[in-house]
Amino acid sequence: MRLQVASLFLASVVRLACAVIADEAYQIDYHHALLGTPQAHTTFFHRPSSSSGASLLYSLSEKSILGAVNPKDGSIVWRQNLTEYSAGAGLLRAVDGEDAVISALGSDVSAWGASDGKLLWTKRFNDDASVTSLELTKSHGADLQAVRDPHCVIWGSNPRCEKVGRDNLPFRVSITSTAVYYVSLQPASRKGYKISVVELDIQLGRVTNQYTLHSENELASPNPTIFVSSNAASSFIAWLDQEFKILKVNLLGSKSIHTFDVENHSGETVQDVKIHTSHSVPHFVVYYNTATKSWADVFHSNVKSGWVSKAFQLPVLDSKSASASNTANNQLYFARITRSTVDLFSSTAENILGTWKIKGNSGELEHAVLEVVARGSGFALRFAQVDDSGDWALIRNGELEWRRPESLSDAIVAAWAEVNGGEALAHELEFEGHQDALSAYIHRVKRHAKALQDNLFPWLQELPTKALSSFSASDGTELTQFGFGKLVVVATRKGRILALDSARQGAVLWNVKAAEGAGTWGANAISAHQNVATIFVKDGSTVKVNITSGDIIERSQPTEKYSSMAFISDAASPIPVPIDADGTPLNSHLRIEGDKFLVTLSKDGKLMSWNTASLEAPAWEFVPPKNQKIIHATARPTHDPVASIGKVLGDRSVLYKYLNPNIALVSAVAGSTLTLYLLDGTSGRILHTATQGGVDITQPIASVISENWFAYSFWGDVTDTSDAKGYRLVISELYESPIPNDRGLLGNAANYSNIHSSIGLPRPHVISQAYMIPEAISNMAVTETRQGITIRQLLCTLPDSNAIVGIPRFVLDPRRPVNRDPTSQEVEEGLARYTPFLGFDPQWYLNHAREVMGINRIESSPTLLESSTLIFAYGFDVFGTRLAPSQPFDLLGKGFSRIQLLLTVVALAVGVAILGPMVRRKQVNLQWKA
Ligand SMILES: *[C@@H]1O[C@H](CO)[C@@H](O)[C@H](O)[C@H]1NC(C)=O
Ligand SMILES: *[C@@H]1O[C@H](CO)[C@@H](O)[C@H](O)[C@H]1NC(C)=O
Ligand SMILES: *[C@@H]1O[C@H](CO)[C@@H](O)[C@H](O)[C@H]1NC(C)=O
Ligand SMILES: *[C@@H]1O[C@H](CO)[C@@H](O)[C@H](O)[C@H]1NC(C)=O
Repeated sequence: MRLQVASLFLASVVRLACAVIADEAYQIDYHHALLGTPQAHTTFFHRPSSSSGASLLYSLSEKSILGAVNPKDGSIVWRQNLTEYSAGAGLLRAVDGEDAVISALGSDVSAWGASDGKLLWTKRFNDDASVTSLELTKSHGADLQAVRDPHCVIWGSNPRCEKVGRDNLPFRVSITSTAVYYVSLQPASRKGYKISVVELDIQLGRVTNQYTLHSENELASPNPTIFVSSNAASSFIAWLDQEFKILKVNLLGSKSIHTFDVENHSGETVQDVKIHTSHSVPHFVVYYNTATKSWADVFHSNVKSGWVSKAFQLPVLDSKSASASNTANNQLYFARITRSTVDLFSSTAENILGTWKIKGNSGELEHAVLEVVARGSGFALRFAQVDDSGDWALIRNGELEWRRPESLSDAIVAAWAEVNGGEALAHELEFEGHQDALSAYIHRVKRHAKALQDNLFPWLQELPTKALSSFSASDGTELTQFGFGKLVVVATRKGRILALDSARQGAVLWNVKAAEGAGTWGANAISAHQNVATIFVKDGSTVKVNITSGDIIERSQPTEKYSSMAFISDAASPIPVPIDADGTPLNSHLRIEGDKFLVTLSKDGKLMSWNTASLEAPAWEFVPPKNQKIIHATARPTHDPVASIGKVLGDRSVLYKYLNPNIALVSAVAGSTLTLYLLDGTSGRILHTATQGGVDITQPIASVISENWFAYSFWGDVTDTSDAKGYRLVISELYESPIPNDRGLLGNAANYSNIHSSIGLPRPHVISQAYMIPEAISNMAVTETRQGITIRQLLCTLPDSNAIVGIPRFVLDPRRPVNRDPTSQEVEEGLARYTPFLGFDPQWYLNHAREVMGINRIESSPTLLESSTLIFAYGFDVFGTRLAPSQPFDLLGKGFSRIQLLLTVVALAVGVAILGPMVRRKQVNLQWKA
């Protein structure tokens, strides 16, 4: 009876525990699905269907990714990588209410379903031509008009080319309901450029009118300050002189030029001018910014009678501001946006229609798109802005709705950082690991006593809230104590530094500007130590950032240029050693004790090894045979602990692993041959060579080495054997000897030298196996755990399916029996029969159903719990997760109910209390009866 009660309760507890894994998908992992920084001229709100009022945000980003974003929450509705089809600067247009957006990139023009992102049609023009302007007409459906270099206006859904103005620089097309205007720049005889306008009949495509405007005094360079309106109620060309002193306007179709003076406010020069038009009202707004001031001029026009006049000017604002416009209810609305406020105006009157205070916003605004809704007497407005960090944010009525960290799409280097004393605890645990049992125990008791002293009182204070929160799901903060709450410090190509919190779904904690200059910042390496992240830049400068607050603590000036940075681990902290392009360490005066080796690769493909005790001359050099080019060299990860030095076989004998800490794996290609060299880092001797023929070296080749094994993948076509062509993954394991229980030549030698050895360097016994895999692997990495007991996973990025898989190591065991079933001893070892084709099990996909685009680096970091490791992948998208390759054996899952456990214990106690006397009475009665 007692037993039954117990097993019943236990059963319910056990069932719960099994549900842990499925439950944590999308909880412990995070994904920033990015587009790249949106460009001003290819970003807009658009309604995909005229029946529903809801609009989406569309953008063709700097990275040529076209995507739709839901303005409510900032999530991606769909995205497409346009570089897969064409390259070049992009254009993007849409016609209101039509379910299509049309993109032009290079010589391709494509239409995409606006609501689902499906490709509707695509047209490729001559490859060496590129589309310079693209316009759509509403009256002809989503008909397309494009100007193509050289000198061709393309028409309609059945493209027809109309040759115009041969010697001119094509600039823009503009469309009205009756005509198409082709605007080009014609070099004037003496200097400057004239504007040439060709008018074509929209139906027939015939030239009906042609004129040139004398703009050569203003337009001195072909990089002009011209604006051509399109699909606007007032179709015009506006241009300014180089100093922004005068504005000239020509209404398309007439030859007359209207001249306006740009007002000179306090002698400051105008820095930028933006012109907003409307498709339904013949008004336009010219927006000026100087270094410290901004204002706008509103113009009204009438095309029929050919007049343009300045209606009014907005009061000058004593700060820079950005502008955005929107046409709604037959009104041209425009917003003046500063860091703290947004003011709404219309083109009909000077008064402010509404003002909103902006909260929770940071950064200098670069450009924005606006949407205005009239609500009774008031207005509601939202705008999506790109600020100087490159991030994209939506602000609705002054409140920040969402922020997309698009700057992360430029991430080039990342490093893990411990916070909240995690580093100190890891250090203490490390210390205990290296002591004998007794002193480790004493140390531990002391540590706990101190922790109790420090933490008991705050813990007791927090207890009531904690007890309450344990009823609900645990939050991220609780996880930090296991080392799960690490931060990732990321540096981007454009000079930003960000910190992401891996315990809070990869939330961006801060994003600071570290350097000027778009796309040129050569951040090379990051080291994070004691709450300070140091970013090493290729020009020799460094930036130090406080990891908690994101404050820049220190910047050092550029010194000597270098090409990469190596870190040599030392007792205190890793020592940075800059490496020149020719592979030589720059600070050759550096002396690091302890016989450490540094292996470098020079630009001309030579491998060199340096003893850190003297960095003046290389200890050895490795030059691959003629024609071969080294494409990749890699070593074991810095943190690569080995839990067991041997592999126990089914018959209890042991195969000893070949464990050389100084080992390098070098891949070299020549023609269609891939050669892998396994080198000893101290002596430079080749330990093992593997050669693969029929390799397509234009396809990705990835390789990784860890513990006593290495893996690589490539596209191979081995026609002389029965193997089919395709992607392959090869795994090789290194053992001391092919014979179990044998330690090879060195036997029980206590010490030996790789360099000065009479018996020569023992070579490993290598067992290899190849698998066919379904698709290319572009990068590989290995999971790292604290002590290396947990099964390792081979992490691979799959560029074709935008995924990351973690292949458990035992699946790849090269000792899997070939062409026969495993014997019972092999089954005991966990070996399954070898199958040449290795399909990727759906459970191996770390990203689940999400698409992770453009990943080119995966970093793994151990936590304080042996079972778990943190993963961070970046390159374009950012993805992170926590893995437990051998199940979370030392961790209670999120679904574990402490309350239920307590209730079980209470129920058991009650059961015992009630049943105990009953049973005793029954036994006494039985004895009396007997
Ligand atoms: C503006 O006026 C100042 C004098 O007040 C003059 O020095 C300056 O050149 C003018 N700037 C422009 C852009 O006209
Ligand atoms: C970093 O910033 C935090 C919070 O502002 C501060 O408490 C800490 O002392 C700073 N650390 C360093 C190394 O400057
Ligand atoms: C091994 O190390 C010991 C102590 O360092 C040394 O005396 C001995 O000669 C070494 N043995 C060999 C084979 O080098
Ligand atoms: C887009 O496609 C191109 C060409 O296939 C590729 O090089 C690039 O990495 C892709 N971009 C992303 C973000 O995946």
